[in-house]
Amino acid sequence: MIVSVIDREGKSHELPAKPGQVLMRVLRDADMGLKAECDGCCACATCHIYVDNDWYGKLDAPADEEQDMLDEAFDVQENSRLSCQITLTEETDGLKVVIAPDWD
Ligand code: FES
Repeated sequence: MIVSVIDREGKSHELPAKPGQVLMRVLRDADMGLKAECDGCCACATCHIYVDNDWYGKLDAPADEEQDMLDEAFDVQENSRLSCQITLTEETDGLKVVIAPDWD
């Protein structure tokens, strides 16, 4: 399976991934510029991404914990998610995301 990513320079990437992988780790391993400072503990919001609108509703809705972090993040849009809270599945093959701006 693949994940389509647009980085902060606007460049497109097709990253190989496997079901069960956490999206943040796929993005970080591919040097997409994510700091992911809390390493997936839903405590930093430096893994912020925008999910393509066609895909947003196909993902499980964010949990309260994730929503609380997003409420405090910068450059948040309706399609914002924290990539450490998204686990890839067969159904997310082809998922499209954009890396949100860095804010520090
Ligand atoms: S890595 Fe810190 S909130 Fe996702």
